[in-house]
Amino acid sequence: MEPALRAADPQLLERLAERVRTHQPNFFLFGHMTSTGTAVAYLLDAICNRNRPKDRRTNFRSFFANAGTEALGGALRTAWRAASHERLRHFPHTLLFDPSRLLRDYFNPCGREEGHELLPGISFVEELGAVARRREEIQPAVVVIRAEPGMPVDVCRELFEVCRRTGTLTILDESLVDFREQGFFCEELHADIVVFGEALADRRMPFGAFLMSERAYRPWSTNATYKLHATTFGGGQTVLSVVLDTLRTQWPPAADEQEVLASIASSRRARRRLYRKHVNKWAPFGFSLSGFDFDLLEASGSTLRTSSGVEFLDCVGCAGANFRGHNPPDLVDVLRSHDPTHDYWSDLREQLHELTGLPCAFPGVSGASVVEHALILAQLAAGERTRIVTFKDNFAGTTPVALNCSTAYGPNEPYGLCRDVVFFDPFSPDTPDALRRELASGQVGLVWLELIRGVDLRRLPDDIFRVINEERQTGGYLVGVDEVLTGAFRTGQFLFSQGRLADPDIVTLAKGLSDMFIPFGVTLVTSALHAAARDRNPELVDALERRLLNQLGSHVAVNALRFAVNHDMGKHVQRVGKRLREGLTEVLRSVDYLGEVRCEVRGEGLLLCLDWSDATSYARLLVSSRLSERGAVLLNRLQCKPPLTISESEIDEIVRRVAQALRGTTQLGNRTRGLVRILSALVIDRVLR
Ligand SMILES: Cc1ncc(COP(=O)(O)O)c(C=O)c1O
Repeated sequence: MEPALRAADPQLLERLAERVRTHQPNFFLFGHMTSTGTAVAYLLDAICNRNRPKDRRTNFRSFFANAGTEALGGALRTAWRAASHERLRHFPHTLLFDPSRLLRDYFNPCGREEGHELLPGISFVEELGAVARRREEIQPAVVVIRAEPGMPVDVCRELFEVCRRTGTLTILDESLVDFREQGFFCEELHADIVVFGEALADRRMPFGAFLMSERAYRPWSTNATYKLHATTFGGGQTVLSVVLDTLRTQWPPAADEQEVLASIASSRRARRRLYRKHVNKWAPFGFSLSGFDFDLLEASGSTLRTSSGVEFLDCVGCAGANFRGHNPPDLVDVLRSHDPTHDYWSDLREQLHELTGLPCAFPGVSGASVVEHALILAQLAAGERTRIVTFKDNFAGTTPVALNCSTAYGPNEPYGLCRDVVFFDPFSPDTPDALRRELASGQVGLVWLELIRGVDLRRLPDDIFRVINEERQTGGYLVGVDEVLTGAFRTGQFLFSQGRLADPDIVTLAKGLSDMFIPFGVTLVTSALHAAARDRNPELVDALERRLLNQLGSHVAVNALRFAVNHDMGKHVQRVGKRLREGLTEVLRSVDYLGEVRCEVRGEGLLLCLDWSDATSYARLLVSSRLSERGAVLLNRLQCKPPLTISESEIDEIVRRVAQALRGTTQLGNRTRGLVRILSALVIDRVLR
């Protein structure tokens, strides 16, 4: 299988270097409104509606992901949430035409029986001619067509028409075709969800997107659900600026579209209105409630400057992706010296081998993609031991395969996840014994865990690690640790699992390796696991080794890790992390009502949060909005994740700003302010409709 991406060309590299040199904002927080994202979504909607008769036009909303396949995963999840739940109870409930033949193995690596696939419920068809018959046989809830070059449009048009009449949701995946040769099929085929892939970023940057019609968007259209499908790197402005260029060149906007694009760039109100209409209906409301409703102008180190001139200290850092701050200056040299013929991926593999002891690596574009690869490889290597053990409130990403281990989300999925996943509450006193029994059963293939849960930064008890270590010899299971958030020095060691879980078979890394610049991630495995997986399915293992390969991302990660090792990053994080924790603890003591609720600072290294026992997400939001507005310091859900290169004086400044913002606050005052915020956010929301 060919990698989805090709080498970056000199013009692109120069353009990217210029963005870094001039401190253009790139990653901040998934879902944050940007004019680039709004413009891309507006144009994609226009393309999808272009040839539709009036009565078939619909309003499309875009979700930005990091690969075509990742976008397809999101499209499937969305369709399953939007489809009739009655129909999802029949298996198989989804018909998928996939000429690439990748997904059949990807979703069911060991060819397991119904319900035991990594992603159950799908019937695969590899000949377009067979789709209509199969549809009649199984009456699916969802039909997916992965378009291929030269695909006869008439056959699909008829199929989509029948689906429309029978209330079957349709997904058209354009990510396997290059529109330069073919144009887009979506201009002729009218699906409920349209998936785009890397071609929109000229196949030079990781990108994917899916567009949802009004009907398909429904699952995400409420205040309670609008954040439930998310990806750390999606919607980064650097990648989207490349996509915007492609769209403008390939489909030169008409005069009226030009006008709208100009208004997106110049008018905050137009931008928010169109973002609400074409990206996320609730995001402007949610971001204004949390105090993050601003337009970013410049991003450098730990500072973000907004269009109204405020300089924020950024402790959101794209949910922990912030390795060396925004736009680290030496990235300019990396981009200008990038040699498209050099194999940076091999350099990175060696570097990671040294840092972790794991010699084999698989490239990814996000946390979810590297967890998916981990689960697939583990299933291939574990053979007859079918069960996956994980822990309550573990987070693994929101693509359908990763959701098997995102137990904070997974059980709510209407379509049914893999039946072989078993989860334990790590904080229940009965768990160590019950876990020991499960691990000794001989049926467990993989134990998969975050050692510090991203949802609340609570660290799993040492007893859990002890049981996993002790039973391993006889239990014969693989141990996989998800270090997407905790890895790459965030907690003061390269991996938080080092010294806690002996010699894991699999480690996943993502956020920090991006260096806040490009979607990136890696799955690391032992050579024994690699060999066992290859024995079972060499084609699939080869495909995983190549499909998301990205030399530019590898180069960026190599440079960042080299910097970290040369500057003794682990020690630095331990030192400044301690200073930050002590400073914040001192501040909490001085605020009466936070003392009363026993608010504490929790976490490790530079992965900290403020929390108290009965805190609700609304209460946290009230405090973080106050920090943003009164202290110009940004903490998402009260988690504090500054760049790992942050200096001691910047740490003191964070503490000073938190203290300043919280001085004099009372619970009553906070609640009143909360009500005022909700009302004003609702007013803004109404005005934008
Ligand atoms: C531990 C862990 N695994 C996986 C993921 C998913 O990563 P992504 O959002 O890049 O898909 C996250 C993201 O927050 C994470 O913290």
